[in-house]
Amino acid sequence: MKLESPLQFLEDKTILVTGAAGFLAKIFVEKVLRVQPRVKKLFLLIRAEDDKSAKLRFQDEVISKELFRVLKEKLGAVKLNALISEKVVMVPGDITCEDLGVKDSFLIEQMWSQVDVVVNLAATTNFDERYDVALNVNTLGARHVMEFSKKCSNLAVLVHVSTAYVSGEREGLIHERPYRMGETLNGVSGLDIDAERRVVEERLEELRVEGASDKAITIAMKELGIERAKIYGWPNAYVFTKAMAEMTVGHLKGDMPVVTLRPTIVTSTFKEPFPGWAEGVRTVDSLALGYGTGRMTCFLGDLNGIVDLIPADMVVNSIVVAMAVHANQRSSGLYHMGSSVRNPIRYADLRDYAYHYFTVNPWVSKDGKPVRVGKMTVLKSMASFHRYMAIRYTFWLKGLEMANAVFCRSFQGTYSNLSRKIKFVMRLVELYRPYLFFKGLFDDSNTEKLRAAAMEGEVETDVFYFDPKCIDWEDYVMNTHIPGIVKYIFKRSN
Ligand SMILES: NC(=O)c1ccc[n+]([C@@H]2O[C@H](COP(=O)([O-])OP(=O)(O)OC[C@H]3O[C@@H](n4cnc5c(N)ncnc54)[C@H](OP(=O)(O)O)[C@@H]3O)[C@@H](O)[C@H]2O)c1
Repeated sequence: MKLESPLQFLEDKTILVTGAAGFLAKIFVEKVLRVQPRVKKLFLLIRAEDDKSAKLRFQDEVISKELFRVLKEKLGAVKLNALISEKVVMVPGDITCEDLGVKDSFLIEQMWSQVDVVVNLAATTNFDERYDVALNVNTLGARHVMEFSKKCSNLAVLVHVSTAYVSGEREGLIHERPYRMGETLNGVSGLDIDAERRVVEERLEELRVEGASDKAITIAMKELGIERAKIYGWPNAYVFTKAMAEMTVGHLKGDMPVVTLRPTIVTSTFKEPFPGWAEGVRTVDSLALGYGTGRMTCFLGDLNGIVDLIPADMVVNSIVVAMAVHANQRSSGLYHMGSSVRNPIRYADLRDYAYHYFTVNPWVSKDGKPVRVGKMTVLKSMASFHRYMAIRYTFWLKGLEMANAVFCRSFQGTYSNLSRKIKFVMRLVELYRPYLFFKGLFDDSNTEKLRAAAMEGEVETDVFYFDPKCIDWEDYVMNTHIPGIVKYIFKRSN
């Protein structure tokens, strides 16, 4: 494996980024513009109806974010605007449609003739997504991105961003092994993506005939996702449809150089453009949010289990290095981007750091009172969790329900509040259960080879750092990540 300078690689390249208003995509865009302003062009595919709304989304959801503060300071507002006008093209589109839903044929032709690199970051990342939506965006979307990329006459490489949890609920060392269309999965054969689409269409038709409400259709589609995922050994529609996306990419790639990157749980930026930038309530952050704001005092999981975290800027750096390595090569690459093998952190550490942080820096609730946190009670099985909830809360809820009926709904406020809290916790637990007891470690031998190639070639390892071994977890979680999510996520969510 040989690595030339990634900075030189980026120079004069035209890159199409899908899902450009998303969390990782905007970190990627900021990084490229900051470290290599001589990039030729960035086509940013943003889910939008037309040009005007794509531009508006770019303005509101990308460039105006604090993430771009360092770049603004470096260039000044005028030069930054000039750089964006010269290099960035906002493309309204939708990856669930052919030609990525781009309606402007002139723009499509431009992309087909100019694009050197495609970075597919568009996805629905909701664990609790409707099956029809997840299948359309994650799996069919990946097919459309592949088909579009094949029409790009200069394409040097395509990077498809997947997730490490396409592994399902495996134990032990999980290797960087690709999925193949038609293979036997968890003892079950016959997974057929087109058949999955038919299952969805048939169920939707049944619901229409029944006259089901929109809400009932959403619930049924979410249940269908979990049901179909479980048949083949995945816990939810998100990871199931992402696994099918990988199969699609593998099936369609032919001799196109393709990198499949599987990040684990992506956290706030470690270093660049500044430490602690985060966006959106995702995975472990929803637990931190529930805990820090006092909505969650108890959780379940294996405290000795390893939680595989990786900062977002490292993921973006690995994308750039992997694309530089694989561009114009026949070989494809599959990379786990996580920390569980090289520098593991346990749930117990995360719990302790969160406790210390929120004890010293309590969240101040809307009524101006600091939220005092205790050390979170952690239960070791689902059965003990249900017992705990029944004794501690469900009993009170029943009592309040009766009191409410007797005293003309005088306790309605308290009742609704408690009921909402219980539902919130139960839903979170159900969604994250497979991950809280997860016993797998993500082997990253391929990614380590990428790092070794960068070290050997002495090429910009300070610019494109992605080695989790350099993370001091206590320092990062206490001084970067939690302050970051409090600043960028808690304040928006409360
Ligand atoms: N963040 C993590 O912890 C993590 C971990 C492992 C892997 N990943 C993977 O990394 C990638 C990026 O994740 P992220 O965290 O940046 O997600 P994100 O913030 O949710 O961004 C995803 C983007 O995709 C866009 N998108 C969704 N459906 C689309 C469609 N039909 N057409 C065009 N764009 C569409 C979304 O647009 P809207 O704004 O219109 O919804 C959104 O901007 C995903 O593939 C995800 O599976 C993420």
